[in-house]
Amino acid sequence: MKIIITGANRGIGLSLTNLYLKQGHQVYAICRSDNNLLSLNNDNLEIINNCDVCDEQNIQKIADYFSDIKIDLLINNAGILRDETLGALNVKSINDQFQTNALAPLLVTQSLLDSMIDQTTLSKVVFITSRMGSITDNTSGGRYGYRMSKVALNIAAKSMSVDLKANNVAVAIIHPGLVGTDMIGGQGNLTPDEAAQKINKRIEGLTLDNTGTFWYSNGDVLPW
Ligand SMILES: NC(=O)c1ccc[n+]([C@@H]2O[C@H](COP(=O)([O-])OP(=O)(O)OC[C@H]3O[C@@H](n4cnc5c(N)ncnc54)[C@H](OP(=O)(O)O)[C@@H]3O)[C@@H](O)[C@H]2O)c1
Repeated sequence: MKIIITGANRGIGLSLTNLYLKQGHQVYAICRSDNNLLSLNNDNLEIINNCDVCDEQNIQKIADYFSDIKIDLLINNAGILRDETLGALNVKSINDQFQTNALAPLLVTQSLLDSMIDQTTLSKVVFITSRMGSITDNTSGGRYGYRMSKVALNIAAKSMSVDLKANNVAVAIIHPGLVGTDMIGGQGNLTPDEAAQKINKRIEGLTLDNTGTFWYSNGDVLPW
């Protein structure tokens, strides 16, 4: 398979990159900095460096790069987590999370549609979301910008699943679990490698029949 992963240089994205390289796939690693990726030294790895997914010119660069390459799987993984306090909400922080976590994955996916749509073979798009974007599951409050951005991501991904079904493109919306990456200070229930394995299981099971599902990486279906 030919696979694109955003935010591939650390955390869950780096583990997914490693996993798919070990499985012998061709991985295109999109990143702002290639520090951890260079040492992987694998012929099946192509690094697209200096690529900020929030920058529209960079998104155009991605579209141009893949104009002649057929992509089987796109994993929109890049994301940020900030915190806000009710009473002192920080507009920039909320905007940054919306831009990175909701708008960027939508625009990156749109820019790659021509490389993914092929009526004869199934392509897959994965959005790495969070259960913090589940309204039903929100019993602890707070995290305004992050929660709002992931809810927005979820609804955009759901629309894509509807719009792209007839084009042979299946969409998964996956919460990885609590994963010990920099994002949460390294403390989690899963290592990034364990999370990558579970995410891969969900991707393997993704079809046009279950497209648009919001999954926990362990296979549970999450409520919106
Ligand atoms: N860890 C968890 O427990 C957890 C739980 C639920 C959901 N998630 C989701 O899982 C995904 C991966 O998170 P993680 O835990 O692996 O976090 P991480 O270790 O902080 O990694 C985040 C990755 O996203 C990249 N990124 C952020 N903004 C970017 C931008 N504008 N352009 C390009 N790349 C950008 C980072 O690149 P730089 O190195 O350049 O900053 C980094 O590679 C995120 O979508 C996150 O919301 C994580």
